[in-house]
Amino acid sequence: MNCLKRICLVAALSAVGCDASSNNLSSEDAAAVSAKKVVIAHRGASGYLPEHTIAAKAMAYAQGADYIEQDLVMTKDEKLVVLHDRHLDTVTNVAGLFPDRHRADGRYYVIDFTLDEIRQLSVFERFEMKEGVATPVFKDRFPLGKSSFRVHTFSEEIELIQGLNSSTGKSVGIYPEIKSPAFHRDEGKDIAAATLSVLKQYGYDEKTDKIFLQCFDASELQRIHDELMPELHMDLPLVQLMGTEEEYRWMLSKNGVQHLATYVDGIGPSASLLIAPDSTVSEIKVTKLVALAHAAGLQVHPYTFRRERNQMPPFAKDYDDFLRIFFDQVGVDGVFTDFPDLTARFVEADQ
Ligand code: G3P
Ligand code: CA
Repeated sequence: MNCLKRICLVAALSAVGCDASSNNLSSEDAAAVSAKKVVIAHRGASGYLPEHTIAAKAMAYAQGADYIEQDLVMTKDEKLVVLHDRHLDTVTNVAGLFPDRHRADGRYYVIDFTLDEIRQLSVFERFEMKEGVATPVFKDRFPLGKSSFRVHTFSEEIELIQGLNSSTGKSVGIYPEIKSPAFHRDEGKDIAAATLSVLKQYGYDEKTDKIFLQCFDASELQRIHDELMPELHMDLPLVQLMGTEEEYRWMLSKNGVQHLATYVDGIGPSASLLIAPDSTVSEIKVTKLVALAHAAGLQVHPYTFRRERNQMPPFAKDYDDFLRIFFDQVGVDGVFTDFPDLTARFVEADQ
């Protein structure tokens, strides 16, 4: 964690408050926790296959995920594609195929390419350039440059999941995230309206449908709740994402959480907002955020649960212990994970 992030996290935790004695859920909290803990496949089974590829989504489905996540960004011709970044250069060969199409900052933006152009790209495991060499962010995951993967649209992914629901008889949900609505607006695009339009087209329009719609942008979520969904006769469960930065700090107080409950059904905090960083194996200091959220009737789905040792907090002995702490001591209702198989196995054994 860099210095700035750590300062933000410490400030955020002082706002939410920590209480080592709150490890056990009160009966009121326990009642608010949904009976079935949910496994949300973060960008698919991204611990095993390049993130947000159709292969990673099919694997997540087969591994027992309850929900599969789609991060959404928009192309020049206003198609929604499933990619985490506004940029193409962190997971594709765009720089090799379209070397002159970067902006002044050197980045290649999804919004500057048509869907037909984006479909020509190969997708790889996430990488960063180090001294001119493409280096995987997660070194023990799917090897860089192997096999063949492509970018796909939001509609294509919904059709995959609904198709598998039809052929297996299961009912796996979707968990789309609207990425950077303010950026898209500055580019002349209404990504929230486009997302709702696709969802309605595929039959997601009621609170009871197997979907959570998530976003980091609080004002955009309020707009979705107050304006867009009523106009479209939709009422979907919404989730407010929270990072450790200053802009989310107001959400951590009792008043803040109660305000969130006026327009969302759940929160998706960074896991680091739920346990104080000075916790140890023998003393887990749980913050008050889950209790505040449950008291306000909100579900809590933190991110991101990964099995690599350097991706887990030091107070977790191993991945199962990481999950045990958050499900059994903190009392979360589900987690975003790169490893749906390990997490589904834990949840099944833990019920
Ligand atoms: O949406 C939950 C989690 O995925 C948020 O983080 O950056 O992976 O989209 P990010
Ligand atoms: Ca996401």
